[in-house]
Formats: sequence, C-alpha cells, structure tokens
Amino acid sequence: MERSCLAIVLAAGESTRMKSSMSKVLHPIGGRPMIAHVMESLAEAGISATALVLGRDAEAVEKVARRDEMAVSSYLQTERLGTAHAVLAAGAAIADGYDDILVVFGDTPLITAAPLLAARKGLAEGNDVVVIGFETTSPTGYGRLIVENGALVAIREEKDASEAERKITYCNGGLMAIDGRKALSLIEKIGNANAKGEYYLTDIVEVANAAGGSAIAVAAPETELMGCNNRAELAGIEAVWQRRRRHELMVSGVSMIAPETVFLAYDTAIAQDVLIEPNVVFGPGVTIESGAVIHAFSHLEGAHVGAGATVGPYARLRPGANLGPDSKVGNFCEVKKAEIGAGAKVNHLTYIGDAFVGAKTNIGAGTITCNYDGVNKHITQIGANAFIGSNSSLVAPVSVGDGALVASGSVITDDVPADAVAFGRAHQTIKPGRAKVLREQYLAEKAERKKSSAE
Ligand code: UD1
Ligand code: CA
Repeated sequence: MERSCLAIVLAAGESTRMKSSMSKVLHPIGGRPMIAHVMESLAEAGISATALVLGRDAEAVEKVARRDEMAVSSYLQTERLGTAHAVLAAGAAIADGYDDILVVFGDTPLITAAPLLAARKGLAEGNDVVVIGFETTSPTGYGRLIVENGALVAIREEKDASEAERKITYCNGGLMAIDGRKALSLIEKIGNANAKGEYYLTDIVEVANAAGGSAIAVAAPETELMGCNNRAELAGIEAVWQRRRRHELMVSGVSMIAPETVFLAYDTAIAQDVLIEPNVVFGPGVTIESGAVIHAFSHLEGAHVGAGATVGPYARLRPGANLGPDSKVGNFCEVKKAEIGAGAKVNHLTYIGDAFVGAKTNIGAGTITCNYDGVNKHITQIGANAFIGSNSSLVAPVSVGDGALVASGSVITDDVPADAVAFGRAHQTIKPGRAKVLREQYLAEKAERKKSSAE
C-alpha cells in the first residue's frame, strides 16, 4: 500500500539578509516565487498534503504556494526559535497521522522530486530519519553529517563543530524525511543547549539514535540544495535554474546558438525545431510552435508564436500578442494584445496594439495603431491581404477591409472598405524654381546680419 506523506515547508524566516520589503520566498526564480518551485517539486514527488510554516508576509506566501492538486494548510510560527520549533508549529498537522513527514525549506527552490523520493524510500526501508545531504568543496556554514558504517550518527552545526568535524565535506542540505508515527515524540525531545540557543531540527538524528532507531543520509547534487539568504545567492540560484531549463529545452529539440544569453521563464514552452538566437529574454506566458525563429535581442512576454513564424531581431512581443503561422514581426516592432494572421508581415519599426491583422496582410514600416485616447483603449481591425503603406497612423476604433490599400503617410480615422484605396494625407504641390529663390534670399539675409554685427 502506498505510504501517506505530509510535507512541511519552513518559510517563517525574517529574510533579514535579503534586505527586502518582502519575504525571500516571494522573490522570483524564472519569473515565479521561489516557494512555488518548492511546491511544484513536492507535487512532482506525488505529495498531496503540505503544511506551510509561515511568519513574515504569511498571507502573500500562502497565496503563491497554493496548488490545485494539493491540500495546503498554514501555521504561523510567531517566535523564531529554530528549525525544530518551526516544525512543531505544524504539530497539529503531524498529529493527523502520516507514514512519512518530509521537511523542506521554502528558500531552497532548486530541489527536484528525485531526492525527496529517495528520502521517502529510506523511510519505507525502515529508517526513522533520512537526511538529504550533499558533498561540497565549501562546507562553511552548513551542518556536517557524521556518518559511521553507513549510519548517520549526528549532524553538527558549524558553530558547534569541533576542528576535526569542520573538515567534513558531507553536509546537511537541511531537508529530511522523518517517520510520521515517531516524528512528534522525537522532535519534542530536542533541546536548545547549543551555540545559538535554538531548537535545531538536526538534533533529531542523535535523539532517534538514542531511542534505538536508525538514521541515514542520502546524497543529492549540491546545486539542488543551494539556499537563498541574500541577493547574490538569489542570482546564483537563478543562474543554475536557467542552465537547467535551457538544457531541458535543448535536449527536447530547441536550438540555441548562445544558450547562456537566453533567459527563460518557468512556463516558457518551446516546440521542437525552434531556433533561438542570442540575447533573447522570455517573460512568463510564452509558447512557441515548431519551426519558428526568434532572432537576436528580442523580448517576449505573454505571447504565442505560431509555427514557422519569425520574430525580431529587436522585437518586443507583449501580453496578448498572438502570431499566426509563418507570420513575421521584424526589427523594432512592438506587438501587444493583437492577432497577426497567417503569413502576415509586420517588418519594421511598428506598433500594433489592440488589433487584428488578417492573413497575408503587409504592414508597412512605421505603422502605428493609435489605440489609446488617453482614457480608453480601442480596436483596429485589418482584414486579409490588405496593404498598409509606410508611416501610417490607424486611429482606433477603425477598420480596414480585406484587400484594401492605405497610402503611405496616411492618418486613417474612417473605416476603409474592402478593396478600396484610402489616402489620408495632404496633397502634394510643386512650385517650380521656388527653392532656388528661397535659398538665395536666405543667403542674402544671413550676409546682411553678419555685416551689421561686425560694424
Ligand atoms: C540549516 C541546518 C543546517 C543546514 C542548512 C542548509 C538546522 C539547525 N541547520 O541551517 O544543518 O546545513 O540549513 O541550508 O536546521 N526557519 C523557520 N523558523 C525558524 C528557523 C528557521 O521557519 O525558527 C526556516 C528558515 O526560514 C529557513 C529554514 O528554516 O527557510 C532554515 O533555517 P536557517 O536559519 O536558514 O538554517 P541554517 O542556519 O541555514
Ligand atoms: Ca539557511
């Protein structure tokens, strides 16, 4: 029978070292609060019940941590007396009775499902405590894992460790699984006689051993256990996350010429045979269909790019941009909340916002949809196979029918019927010889001014 599991997410920290107006677990990694990454890994590990231990910004943290497939309950830790004390804040949830208790940290967002499953497996094999550890060349600051004959004897916090213990490079990632039937009685035995005067969850190892139980450590990659205490560590975690996500996309069939210059969001979805050129940034909510090319220096957010479409270089797709198959949005173009039909072209220096552009329509350089009157947004509707001449302003609400042609430089304020030509510009007049007359006049005036100022 499957073992039941309660995950306890510790997120009550003050985040002092982040020097921030919000809790560190709300800071984004890949465009999403770091605690949401932790919750996703818990869901991937098949965990269906989670207790959040909250302090600062409790309401906001609870909101971003919620997930549909999981029962999430919240507990406040009002005094911050250590990690064991924090777990006990969720004591009522533990008392509901679970086979496994999994303790994770809200500020360790790179953890994946695999080590969590490995820790639970250790419980299923009869251990009372399974700690997730990692090997590192820089153990400073971490609790050290004291392992003898395959058994975990103790975890020693840096501040309480002897000279010899500090040389140990196998460290505590902070995450652990505990036998759910024994968890409360073990944690309640933990005291605070240590350098920091805190109730250390790590002391559970010695408590379990003293009670005749068994503890082991399972190793995970160091990168999965990187914790976030300050902005520099936040950037370090972001870098690891970006590398991991780029790699996943590349092995799934996405080409990147300079992957280290491409920045992804947690939900960036890119199909096979898409080419991403250097220096492209994805905000949340982007999907790209197969065969599309995203040229260099483009910025996309909340946008959909159809199969075979091309974007950029230097294009900006904002939320609601929906590019049809084989369409083109070229250099220095911005598209917002607009449909660009199949095969349509928006090639140069253009703003298309709150608009519909039909299939195969060509939007000339410098076209602007004037969608905003200072108070309200209005819609521009352009049909299929239309042609908008360069440097035209389409003053919304306005429509241009299928096959219509707008002369360049037009300011279009009235609807243009299908197949019509619209001129919305001043008539040109020619005055033969007049330029020469003017030039001579100006030169004469200038010479006169120079002469009088010299006198
Ligand atoms: C902890 C471990 C250490 C491990 C390291 C890994 C203990 C005693 N030490 O140390 O062995 O190597 O993590 O990163 O567990 N928290 C609360 N309430 C509290 C105290 C902490 O919610 O009263 C939360 C923090 O917000 C944080 C997590 O628990 O998310 C860990 O606490 P922190 O003080 O950062 O522990 P470390 O000293 O880093
Ligand atoms: Ca920490």
